[in-house]
Amino acid sequence: MRRSRASGFARALTRETRLHPSDLIFPVFVLERPSATEAIDAMPGMQRQGLNALLRTCERACTLGIPALALFPVIGPEQKSEQAEAAWDEQGLVPQTVRAIKQRFPELGLITDVALDPYTAHGQDGLLDRDGYVTNDRTVEALVKQALCHAAAGADVVAPSDMMDGRVAAIRQALEQDGHHNTIILSYAAKFASGFYGPFRDAVGSAANLGAGDKYSYQMDPANGDEAEREVALDLAEGADWVMVKPALPYLDVVRRIKQQFAVPTFAYNVSGEYAMLKAAAERGWLDERSVVMESLTSIRRAGADAILTYHALDLAEWLNASE
Ligand code: PBG
Repeated sequence: MRRSRASGFARALTRETRLHPSDLIFPVFVLERPSATEAIDAMPGMQRQGLNALLRTCERACTLGIPALALFPVIGPEQKSEQAEAAWDEQGLVPQTVRAIKQRFPELGLITDVALDPYTAHGQDGLLDRDGYVTNDRTVEALVKQALCHAAAGADVVAPSDMMDGRVAAIRQALEQDGHHNTIILSYAAKFASGFYGPFRDAVGSAANLGAGDKYSYQMDPANGDEAEREVALDLAEGADWVMVKPALPYLDVVRRIKQQFAVPTFAYNVSGEYAMLKAAAERGWLDERSVVMESLTSIRRAGADAILTYHALDLAEWLNASE
């Protein structure tokens, strides 16, 4: 076996999995104030950005060959409410940002998050009933309005990350009715109730609102793999174009099963906590950042993911382009 490992040329010829900037999606946190930028404590190297900085980030992504960005809004407390009305405001932060980016960078793919958690006063992804339970069908109605608002603003891909039942069918039907025939649905089909979302919730400011609340009544139990297959089967039947597994590294077996079982575009979300772990260890000199990031993301591709949402995207694309 070692003959093929003994020289660089042989290793290159026998390498089975390759990372490429075109496999990456960069998630960004968007601020209202165009001139603002803020560091994110638990995500070293990541910033919340207003439009000015965001447009520079878009330019960098285009130059590096990253095909798409995923937008996550940071909504001020005054715009959060029980019914999350700001989520489908045509003049809201997401539609405005989509329009502004599309004007300057029409070729850059824009993926918007369909979920109510940035907009609810309680930080849940859906609307509550009197007992505090996250209702399904009322939430789906709100998600449909949100998805239509994003599509009308020019989002290429709407990505429901809320884990309500039946939302993909409802969104697909509404998109068709409204003439958005080519809007892609990237469904967060297998989204687990994960502790690895902590830094993200700090970044978008939903952690405090959520308080002691949890998302166990809609996000999946980390113990379940068969159920992930059922979720994906349902979302595909309802009209999802692409499906996502989230988080990525603790769920590589799920990524593998989904890709093998369904052979559809399968994405993985290398989430904030996965990013924070490597960054924190690298900052302390405990790990070599570049090698562990490359290794981790290669493993996600090897498991079967076609594309990866990752906060390492810009750094990784730079390393990959430099080594060409
Ligand atoms: C919520 C949402 C979350 C993430 C993306 N969309 C957090 C949650 O479900 O509480 C997490 C992403 C990350 O951790 O990087 N709709």
